[in-house]
Amino acid sequence: MGKDTLTVTDNRTGQEFEIPIEEGAVRAMEFRQMKVDADDFGLLAYDPAFTNTAACRSAITDIDGEKGILRYRGYPIEQLAEKSNYLETAYLLVHGELPTRSQYVEWEHDITIHTFIHENTKKFMEGFQHDAHPMGMLVSTVAALSTFYPEAKEIFDEDVRLLEIKRLIAKMPTLAAFAFRHSLGKPYVYPDNDLSFSGNLLNMLYKMSEAKYNPDPVLERALDVLFILHADHEQNCSANAMRAVGSSHVDPYSAIAAAVAALYGPLHGGANEAVLRMLAEIDTVENIPGFIKRVKEGEGLLFGFGHRIYKNFDPRASIIKELAHQVFEVTGRNPLLDIALELERIALEDEYFIQRKLYPNVDFYSGIIYQSMGFPVTMFPVLFAIPRTAGWVSQWQEMLEDSAQKIARPRQLYVGAAKRDFVAVSKRG
Ligand code: SDX
Repeated sequence: MGKDTLTVTDNRTGQEFEIPIEEGAVRAMEFRQMKVDADDFGLLAYDPAFTNTAACRSAITDIDGEKGILRYRGYPIEQLAEKSNYLETAYLLVHGELPTRSQYVEWEHDITIHTFIHENTKKFMEGFQHDAHPMGMLVSTVAALSTFYPEAKEIFDEDVRLLEIKRLIAKMPTLAAFAFRHSLGKPYVYPDNDLSFSGNLLNMLYKMSEAKYNPDPVLERALDVLFILHADHEQNCSANAMRAVGSSHVDPYSAIAAAVAALYGPLHGGANEAVLRMLAEIDTVENIPGFIKRVKEGEGLLFGFGHRIYKNFDPRASIIKELAHQVFEVTGRNPLLDIALELERIALEDEYFIQRKLYPNVDFYSGIIYQSMGFPVTMFPVLFAIPRTAGWVSQWQEMLEDSAQKIARPRQLYVGAAKRDFVAVSKRG
């Protein structure tokens, strides 16, 4: 094996450069020394959508797209989904280690006592139309929380930062539930500190006149496993938004509003909602071949399929597919599952999808479970944002603690007009 370096010859000048290879990468700044004239800017690396650019070094989540591997802080997602719970996984993501028993008790207590939100938040909620999309409400209200906690701007005070991390993990479900109840014209349900993280969310979403809401244990556990699976996913679009906005040293509430907004998009977390609308549009198994034909002709996407990283299978999709059967034992089988299973079978045999390495991703089956649990499709991306809060705050914290990071400010290749003089309006056109 040779040296861990790259030798580059700039054929414009014949100059040779030897560039170190570290951790499977070369530093883009090394290319700036490659010039024709001394006052040249030097070479840039052009990479739209960062398809081959490492923007950071991270120890949080490790993905191997070819092998379908996903690990949080080194722990396989399959083991966490089977043996852990969401709050313990959130602790692992934020702190880097599984908590001791006493650490977990303290963590769970701290999250639980921060689930309430300022009463004024209800006034924002009242300002939305009854049919406002809950993601639009979530983006707005989580940003508004920054005005209630001005101390959150002290992002380099570790105690303040940890308190805001706990507040965000704790309050995202409450904001989500309030948005849901507003959309139904139902009274808000306050957090019940006797319940688990996921049980309390179900309480705030569904409690009516009963004195005490008792979540169905199967649905409570299914929701918690879904939250574990959605907790982080390295440098996805919304994590990138969290890091980029957070790199301006704004407070975490404002940064996370950008992350929620990114997740809202149908190519990202909004895909679970788009999958259900797609399955409803297909309507019957007989309509699948026609739908697939239209996708292959470029008339739209097969939502819930494909991934920038996973090119074999998304390990989360496999776990969710199994989870669906447990949920349906309680809720009854969702007929859309038959369409989804047949759609998957046909797509996985079709050369168009095989050639493009398109497989079901985390969003393909999650929406079917959520619908069976009684959630409207507009709530599906909200159910993605709740658990991903732990991932976003972990990525944000790691960015702030990384001395190699500074304000995110990419370069560009300018392809616009050359210098030209202003033209008076009388002489235009
Ligand atoms: C999430 O990044 C993450 O980690 C995200 C996430 C997380 O946990 O944070 O995993 C969550 O966002 C999952 C993805 C949910 N999105 C969808 O299900 C929407 C449908 N999928 C596509 O939009 C797409 O697959 C992406 C956005 C997920 C990935 O896009 P890429 O990597 O940029 O791939 P691409 O667009 O370059 O596609 C390559 C080819 C193209 O065809 P050609 O131009 O080469 O002919 O595959 C085609 C695409 O048109 N293609 C699809 C397709 N996905 C890609 N064709 C039909 N249906 C699809 N779903």
